[in-house]
Amino acid sequence: MYESIIKPVLFRFDPERVHDFFVGFGEFLGSNAMTRGMVHAACGYEHPLLRTHVLGIDFANPVGLGAGFDKDVRLTKIMPAVGFGFMEVGAVTQFPYAGNPGRRLVRLPDDRSLIVYYGLKNIGAAAIGRKLSRLRFSFPVGINIAKTNRADIKGDASVADYAATYRQLAHRFSYATINISCPNAQDGCTFQDPAMLDTLLGALAAEEKPCPVLLKLSAHLSMGEVDEILAIVQKHGRLVDGFVIGNLAKDRSILQLRSPRERLDLIPAGGISGAPVRALTTAMIRHIYGKTGGRYAIIGLGGVFTAEDAYEKIRAGASLVQIVTGLIYGGPRAVARINRGLARLLARDGYTHVADAVGADVRTGAPA
Ligand SMILES: Cc1cc2nc3c(=O)[nH]c(=O)nc-3n(C[C@H](O)[C@H](O)[C@H](O)COP(=O)(O)O)c2cc1C
Repeated sequence: MYESIIKPVLFRFDPERVHDFFVGFGEFLGSNAMTRGMVHAACGYEHPLLRTHVLGIDFANPVGLGAGFDKDVRLTKIMPAVGFGFMEVGAVTQFPYAGNPGRRLVRLPDDRSLIVYYGLKNIGAAAIGRKLSRLRFSFPVGINIAKTNRADIKGDASVADYAATYRQLAHRFSYATINISCPNAQDGCTFQDPAMLDTLLGALAAEEKPCPVLLKLSAHLSMGEVDEILAIVQKHGRLVDGFVIGNLAKDRSILQLRSPRERLDLIPAGGISGAPVRALTTAMIRHIYGKTGGRYAIIGLGGVFTAEDAYEKIRAGASLVQIVTGLIYGGPRAVARINRGLARLLARDGYTHVADAVGADVRTGAPA
Protein backbone atom coordinates (compact mmCIF):
# COMPACT_ATOMS: atom_id res chain seq x y z
CA MET A 1 0.00 0.00 0.00
CA TYR A 2 2.86 2.40 0.82
CA GLU A 3 4.58 1.82 -2.54
CA SER A 4 1.44 1.96 -4.71
CA ILE A 5 -0.78 4.54 -2.95
CA ILE A 6 0.93 6.49 -0.17
CA LYS A 7 4.37 7.07 -1.74
CA PRO A 8 3.10 8.51 -5.07
CA VAL A 9 1.04 11.07 -3.11
CA LEU A 10 3.82 11.93 -0.67
CA PHE A 11 6.37 12.27 -3.43
CA ARG A 12 4.34 15.16 -4.87
CA PHE A 13 5.15 17.29 -1.83
CA ASP A 14 8.36 18.97 -0.72
CA PRO A 15 10.54 16.20 0.77
CA GLU A 16 11.60 18.13 3.86
CA ARG A 17 7.96 18.91 4.76
CA VAL A 18 6.99 15.27 4.25
CA HIS A 19 9.88 14.21 6.45
CA ASP A 20 8.89 16.69 9.18
CA PHE A 21 5.29 15.46 8.98
CA PHE A 22 6.39 11.84 9.43
CA VAL A 23 8.62 12.64 12.36
CA GLY A 24 5.70 14.46 14.06
CA PHE A 25 3.28 11.62 13.24
CA GLY A 26 5.79 9.00 14.42
CA GLU A 27 6.24 10.90 17.67
CA PHE A 28 2.47 10.89 18.18
CA LEU A 29 2.22 7.14 17.40
CA GLY A 30 4.99 6.46 19.90
CA SER A 31 3.28 8.42 22.65
CA ASN A 32 0.80 5.74 23.76
CA ALA A 33 0.74 1.98 24.13
CA MET A 34 -2.31 1.45 21.90
CA THR A 35 -0.85 3.16 18.82
CA ARG A 36 2.51 1.50 19.44
CA GLY A 37 0.71 -1.87 19.57
CA MET A 38 -1.10 -1.14 16.30
CA VAL A 39 2.16 -0.24 14.55
CA HIS A 40 3.83 -3.35 15.95
CA ALA A 41 0.96 -5.53 14.70
CA ALA A 42 1.35 -4.06 11.21
CA CYS A 43 5.16 -3.89 11.01
CA GLY A 44 6.78 -6.10 13.66
CA TYR A 45 8.80 -9.19 12.73
CA GLU A 46 10.92 -11.43 14.95
CA HIS A 47 13.12 -14.43 14.19
CA PRO A 48 15.69 -16.14 16.44
CA LEU A 49 18.25 -16.23 13.57
CA LEU A 50 18.34 -12.43 13.62
CA ARG A 51 19.22 -11.94 17.30
CA THR A 52 22.75 -10.78 17.77
CA HIS A 53 25.23 -9.47 20.33
CA VAL A 54 27.61 -6.74 19.17
CA LEU A 55 29.71 -4.25 21.19
CA GLY A 56 28.43 -5.95 24.35
CA ILE A 57 24.83 -5.05 23.41
CA ASP A 58 21.91 -7.40 22.62
CA PHE A 59 19.97 -6.67 19.42
CA ALA A 60 16.64 -8.32 18.49
CA ASN A 61 17.67 -7.95 14.85
CA PRO A 62 20.59 -6.32 13.01
CA VAL A 63 18.59 -3.70 11.07
CA GLY A 64 18.75 -0.17 12.50
CA LEU A 65 17.65 3.33 11.58
CA GLY A 66 20.64 5.42 10.47
CA ALA A 67 21.47 8.95 11.63
CA GLY A 68 19.69 11.92 10.11
CA PHE A 69 16.11 10.63 10.21
CA ASP A 70 15.54 11.44 13.89
CA LYS A 71 17.84 14.35 14.61
CA ASP A 72 16.18 15.51 17.84
CA VAL A 73 15.33 12.22 19.62
CA ARG A 74 11.59 12.17 18.84
CA LEU A 75 11.15 8.63 17.52
CA THR A 76 12.82 6.32 20.04
CA LYS A 77 9.43 5.09 21.30
CA ILE A 78 7.94 4.16 17.94
CA MET A 79 10.93 2.69 16.11
CA PRO A 80 11.01 -0.60 18.08
CA ALA A 81 7.37 -1.11 17.02
CA VAL A 82 8.29 -0.37 13.38
CA GLY A 83 10.59 -3.40 13.65
CA PHE A 84 14.03 -1.83 13.92
CA GLY A 85 16.59 -3.65 16.07
CA PHE A 86 18.19 -0.34 17.07
CA MET A 87 18.49 3.27 15.95
CA GLU A 88 21.00 6.11 15.86
CA VAL A 89 19.75 9.59 16.73
CA GLY A 90 21.32 12.87 15.60
CA ALA A 91 23.60 14.16 14.40
CA VAL A 92 23.63 16.15 17.63
CA THR A 93 26.00 19.08 18.01
CA GLN A 94 26.98 21.09 21.06
CA PHE A 95 25.08 24.19 19.91
CA PRO A 96 21.73 24.23 18.08
CA TYR A 97 21.68 24.95 14.36
CA ALA A 98 18.62 25.79 12.26
CA GLY A 99 20.09 24.14 9.17
CA ASN A 100 21.66 25.44 5.98
CA PRO A 101 19.63 28.15 4.22
CA GLY A 102 17.56 27.31 1.14
CA ARG A 103 16.60 23.91 -0.21
CA ARG A 104 18.00 21.04 1.85
CA LEU A 105 16.53 17.84 0.50
CA VAL A 106 15.85 16.69 -3.08
CA ARG A 107 14.60 13.29 -4.25
CA LEU A 108 16.39 11.57 -7.10
CA PRO A 109 13.91 8.78 -7.96
CA ASP A 110 15.84 7.76 -11.08
CA ASP A 111 18.76 6.94 -8.81
CA ARG A 112 16.75 5.78 -5.75
CA SER A 113 18.66 8.47 -3.92
CA LEU A 114 18.42 11.81 -2.13
CA ILE A 115 20.51 14.96 -2.21
CA VAL A 116 20.97 16.06 1.41
CA TYR A 117 22.07 19.49 2.54
CA TYR A 118 20.71 19.93 6.07
CA GLY A 119 24.10 20.92 7.45
CA LEU A 120 23.58 19.37 10.88
CA LYS A 121 20.23 20.91 11.77
CA ASN A 122 19.41 19.97 15.37
CA ILE A 123 18.28 21.44 18.69
CA GLY A 124 21.69 21.11 20.35
CA ALA A 125 23.16 19.02 23.15
CA ALA A 126 21.63 20.92 26.09
CA ALA A 127 18.06 20.58 24.77
CA ILE A 128 18.63 16.91 23.93
CA GLY A 129 19.98 16.38 27.45
CA ARG A 130 16.78 17.86 28.95
CA LYS A 131 14.66 15.51 26.82
CA LEU A 132 16.67 12.48 27.88
CA SER A 133 15.86 13.00 31.54
CA ARG A 134 12.24 12.10 30.67
CA LEU A 135 12.99 9.19 28.31
CA ARG A 136 13.61 5.45 28.76
CA PHE A 137 14.78 3.45 25.76
CA SER A 138 13.32 -0.03 25.16
CA PHE A 139 15.97 -1.00 22.59
CA PRO A 140 19.57 0.02 21.80
CA VAL A 141 19.90 3.68 20.81
CA GLY A 142 23.17 5.24 19.66
CA ILE A 143 23.98 8.93 19.41
CA ASN A 144 25.66 10.47 16.37
CA ILE A 145 27.88 13.36 17.52
CA ALA A 146 29.13 16.01 15.11
CA LYS A 147 30.84 19.38 15.30
CA THR A 148 28.53 22.41 15.55
CA ASN A 149 28.09 23.83 12.07
CA ARG A 150 29.54 27.27 12.68
CA ALA A 151 32.49 28.62 10.73
CA ASP A 152 33.75 30.51 13.81
CA ILE A 153 34.28 27.21 15.67
CA LYS A 154 37.52 25.88 14.26
CA GLY A 155 40.84 24.29 15.23
CA ASP A 156 41.06 23.46 18.96
CA ALA A 157 37.57 24.87 19.50
CA SER A 158 36.20 22.22 17.10
CA VAL A 159 37.81 19.47 19.13
CA ALA A 160 36.42 20.96 22.35
CA ASP A 161 33.00 21.19 20.70
CA TYR A 162 32.93 17.45 19.91
CA ALA A 163 34.30 16.58 23.36
CA ALA A 164 31.64 18.68 25.13
CA THR A 165 28.75 16.82 23.45
CA TYR A 166 30.47 13.47 24.06
CA ARG A 167 30.95 14.28 27.76
CA GLN A 168 27.42 15.62 28.16
CA LEU A 169 25.41 12.94 26.33
CA ALA A 170 27.27 9.74 25.41
CA HIS A 171 26.66 8.07 28.81
CA ARG A 172 22.90 8.11 28.14
CA PHE A 173 23.24 5.95 25.01
CA SER A 174 24.15 2.37 24.04
CA TYR A 175 26.96 3.63 21.80
CA ALA A 176 28.34 6.89 20.42
CA THR A 177 29.21 7.49 16.78
CA ILE A 178 31.71 10.25 16.23
CA ASN A 179 30.64 11.68 12.90
CA ILE A 180 33.86 12.88 11.30
CA SER A 181 32.35 12.96 7.82
CA CYS A 182 29.50 15.46 7.59
CA PRO A 183 29.74 16.73 4.02
CA ASN A 184 27.57 19.80 4.56
CA ALA A 185 29.36 21.85 7.22
CA GLN A 186 30.02 25.55 6.56
CA ASP A 187 33.78 25.31 6.97
CA GLY A 188 33.77 22.47 4.41
CA CYS A 189 36.24 20.46 6.45
CA THR A 190 35.85 17.06 8.02
CA PHE A 191 37.91 15.34 10.68
CA GLN A 192 38.94 12.63 8.25
CA ASP A 193 42.21 14.50 7.72
CA PRO A 194 44.77 12.34 9.65
CA ALA A 195 46.30 15.19 11.69
CA MET A 196 42.89 16.55 12.73
CA LEU A 197 41.61 13.05 13.52
CA ASP A 198 44.67 12.39 15.65
CA THR A 199 44.00 15.51 17.73
CA LEU A 200 40.30 14.70 18.05
CA LEU A 201 40.85 11.10 19.15
CA GLY A 202 43.54 12.24 21.60
CA ALA A 203 41.03 14.63 23.20
CA LEU A 204 38.26 12.01 23.35
CA ALA A 205 40.64 9.40 24.78
CA ALA A 206 41.34 11.82 27.65
CA GLU A 207 37.62 11.80 28.55
CA GLU A 208 35.93 9.05 30.54
CA LYS A 209 34.65 6.43 28.06
CA PRO A 210 31.01 5.75 28.94
CA CYS A 211 29.98 3.47 26.05
CA PRO A 212 31.35 1.88 22.86
CA VAL A 213 32.67 4.45 20.39
CA LEU A 214 32.43 4.23 16.60
CA LEU A 215 33.68 6.51 13.82
CA LYS A 216 31.47 7.38 10.86
CA LEU A 217 33.35 7.77 7.59
CA SER A 218 32.32 9.18 4.20
CA ALA A 219 31.22 6.84 1.46
CA HIS A 220 33.68 8.22 -1.07
CA LEU A 221 37.07 7.72 0.62
CA SER A 222 39.85 5.95 -1.26
CA MET A 223 41.24 2.78 0.36
CA GLY A 224 44.49 4.72 0.94
CA GLU A 225 42.57 7.33 2.95
CA VAL A 226 40.81 4.56 4.89
CA ASP A 227 44.19 3.01 5.72
CA GLU A 228 45.49 6.34 7.04
CA ILE A 229 42.43 6.60 9.28
CA LEU A 230 42.90 3.01 10.49
CA ALA A 231 46.51 3.79 11.43
CA ILE A 232 45.43 6.80 13.52
CA VAL A 233 42.66 4.79 15.16
CA GLN A 234 45.07 2.01 16.09
CA LYS A 235 47.40 4.58 17.62
CA HIS A 236 44.63 5.49 20.07
CA GLY A 237 44.30 1.93 21.31
CA ARG A 238 41.03 1.12 22.96
CA LEU A 239 39.07 4.31 22.24
CA VAL A 240 37.47 3.23 18.96
CA ASP A 241 35.43 0.01 18.93
CA GLY A 242 34.11 0.20 15.40
CA PHE A 243 33.08 2.06 12.28
CA VAL A 244 29.88 3.24 10.68
CA ILE A 245 30.36 2.91 6.90
CA GLY A 246 29.37 5.21 5.45
CA ASN A 247 28.02 8.70 5.26
CA LEU A 248 26.75 10.60 2.21
CA ALA A 249 29.04 10.85 -0.80
CA LYS A 250 30.12 14.35 -1.76
CA ASP A 251 32.11 13.53 -4.88
CA ARG A 252 29.46 13.01 -7.57
CA SER A 253 31.99 12.34 -10.32
CA ILE A 254 32.48 8.75 -9.12
CA LEU A 255 28.77 7.92 -8.75
CA GLN A 256 27.40 7.56 -12.30
CA LEU A 257 24.13 9.29 -11.47
CA ARG A 258 21.23 8.91 -13.93
CA SER A 259 19.08 11.82 -12.73
CA PRO A 260 18.65 14.81 -15.06
CA ARG A 261 21.20 17.59 -14.66
CA GLU A 262 18.50 20.19 -13.70
CA ARG A 263 17.55 18.00 -10.76
CA LEU A 264 21.12 17.37 -9.64
CA ASP A 265 21.78 21.10 -9.84
CA LEU A 266 18.96 21.90 -7.39
CA ILE A 267 21.56 21.46 -4.61
CA PRO A 268 24.99 21.29 -6.23
CA ALA A 269 26.77 21.13 -2.87
CA GLY A 270 24.60 18.43 -1.23
CA GLY A 271 25.67 14.88 -0.35
CA ILE A 272 24.26 11.83 -2.15
CA SER A 273 22.55 8.91 -0.35
CA GLY A 274 20.93 5.65 -1.40
CA ALA A 275 21.59 3.26 -4.29
CA PRO A 276 24.53 5.22 -5.81
CA VAL A 277 26.62 4.70 -2.65
CA ARG A 278 25.74 1.02 -2.12
CA ALA A 279 28.77 -0.55 -3.82
CA LEU A 280 31.17 2.09 -2.47
CA THR A 281 30.25 1.46 1.16
CA THR A 282 30.23 -2.33 0.73
CA ALA A 283 33.77 -2.15 -0.71
CA MET A 284 34.91 -0.03 2.26
CA ILE A 285 33.35 -2.46 4.75
CA ARG A 286 35.08 -5.34 3.03
CA HIS A 287 38.39 -3.51 3.05
CA ILE A 288 38.25 -2.62 6.75
CA TYR A 289 37.04 -6.07 7.79
CA GLY A 290 39.77 -7.75 5.73
CA LYS A 291 42.52 -5.41 6.85
CA THR A 292 41.70 -5.64 10.57
CA GLY A 293 40.60 -9.29 10.72
CA GLY A 294 37.20 -8.38 12.07
CA ARG A 295 38.67 -6.67 15.14
CA TYR A 296 36.28 -3.72 14.83
CA ALA A 297 32.49 -3.82 14.84
CA ILE A 298 31.13 -2.40 11.60
CA ILE A 299 27.69 -0.88 11.08
CA GLY A 300 27.11 -0.94 7.32
CA LEU A 301 24.81 1.43 5.47
CA GLY A 302 24.39 3.12 2.15
CA GLY A 303 21.80 1.99 -0.36
CA VAL A 304 20.20 -0.79 1.68
CA PHE A 305 16.68 -1.27 0.25
CA THR A 306 16.30 -5.06 0.30
CA ALA A 307 17.36 -8.11 2.33
CA GLU A 308 19.91 -8.87 -0.40
CA ASP A 309 21.47 -5.40 0.05
CA ALA A 310 21.68 -5.93 3.82
CA TYR A 311 23.09 -9.43 3.41
CA GLU A 312 25.77 -8.10 1.02
CA LYS A 313 26.98 -5.70 3.75
CA ILE A 314 26.88 -8.41 6.43
CA ARG A 315 28.85 -10.85 4.28
CA ALA A 316 31.35 -8.04 3.58
CA GLY A 317 31.95 -7.62 7.33
CA ALA A 318 29.13 -5.56 8.86
CA SER A 319 27.70 -6.93 12.12
CA LEU A 320 24.77 -4.53 11.91
CA VAL A 321 23.19 -2.55 9.08
CA GLN A 322 21.20 0.70 8.96
CA ILE A 323 18.80 2.28 6.51
CA VAL A 324 17.69 5.87 5.91
CA THR A 325 16.88 6.30 2.20
CA GLY A 326 15.48 2.74 2.13
CA LEU A 327 12.90 3.78 4.73
CA ILE A 328 11.94 6.94 2.83
CA TYR A 329 11.49 5.03 -0.46
CA GLY A 330 10.16 1.76 0.97
CA GLY A 331 8.00 2.96 3.89
CA PRO A 332 7.79 1.46 7.38
CA ARG A 333 7.08 -2.10 6.20
CA ALA A 334 10.51 -2.14 4.51
CA VAL A 335 12.07 -3.01 7.87
CA ALA A 336 10.10 -6.26 8.28
CA ARG A 337 10.65 -7.07 4.60
CA ILE A 338 14.40 -6.76 5.04
CA ASN A 339 14.40 -8.77 8.28
CA ARG A 340 12.17 -11.52 6.88
CA GLY A 341 14.31 -11.81 3.75
CA LEU A 342 17.49 -11.81 5.82
CA ALA A 343 16.25 -14.71 7.94
CA ARG A 344 15.42 -16.59 4.72
CA LEU A 345 18.87 -15.93 3.20
CA LEU A 346 20.65 -16.98 6.40
CA ALA A 347 18.63 -20.21 6.60
CA ARG A 348 19.24 -20.88 2.88
CA ASP A 349 22.99 -20.65 3.43
CA GLY A 350 22.92 -22.89 6.49
CA TYR A 351 23.68 -20.24 9.12
CA THR A 352 22.18 -20.67 12.57
CA HIS A 353 22.99 -17.14 13.66
CA VAL A 354 23.40 -13.84 11.81
CA ALA A 355 26.83 -13.36 13.44
CA ASP A 356 28.14 -16.44 11.58
CA ALA A 357 27.59 -14.71 8.22
CA VAL A 358 29.55 -11.57 9.17
CA GLY A 359 32.55 -11.26 6.85
CA ALA A 360 31.79 -14.57 5.09
CA ASP A 361 32.71 -13.18 1.66
CA VAL A 362 36.06 -11.92 2.97
CA ARG A 363 36.90 -15.22 4.67
CA THR A 364 36.04 -17.28 1.59
CA GLY A 365 37.62 -14.78 -0.83
CA ALA A 366 34.36 -14.48 -2.81
CA PRO A 367 34.74 -12.04 -5.73
CA ALA A 368 33.66 -8.47 -4.85
C1 LIG B 1 17.86 13.23 5.18
C2 LIG B 1 19.19 12.70 5.62
C3 LIG B 1 19.84 13.30 6.70
C4 LIG B 1 21.06 12.80 7.14
N1 LIG B 1 21.67 13.36 8.23
C5 LIG B 1 22.77 12.75 8.74
C6 LIG B 1 23.35 13.20 9.98
O1 LIG B 1 22.86 14.14 10.60
N2 LIG B 1 24.45 12.55 10.46
C7 LIG B 1 25.01 11.49 9.79
O2 LIG B 1 25.99 10.90 10.27
N3 LIG B 1 24.47 11.03 8.63
C8 LIG B 1 23.39 11.63 8.11
N4 LIG B 1 22.84 11.17 6.95
C9 LIG B 1 23.51 10.05 6.25
C10 LIG B 1 22.87 8.71 6.57
O3 LIG B 1 22.93 8.40 7.94
C11 LIG B 1 23.54 7.60 5.77
O4 LIG B 1 24.88 7.51 6.17
C12 LIG B 1 23.49 7.82 4.25
O5 LIG B 1 22.29 8.44 3.86
C13 LIG B 1 23.60 6.48 3.51
O6 LIG B 1 22.56 5.60 3.91
P1 LIG B 1 21.20 5.41 3.06
O7 LIG B 1 21.61 5.13 1.66
O8 LIG B 1 20.48 4.28 3.72
O9 LIG B 1 20.46 6.69 3.18
C14 LIG B 1 21.64 11.68 6.47
C15 LIG B 1 20.99 11.10 5.38
C16 LIG B 1 19.77 11.59 4.96
C17 LIG B 1 19.10 10.91 3.79
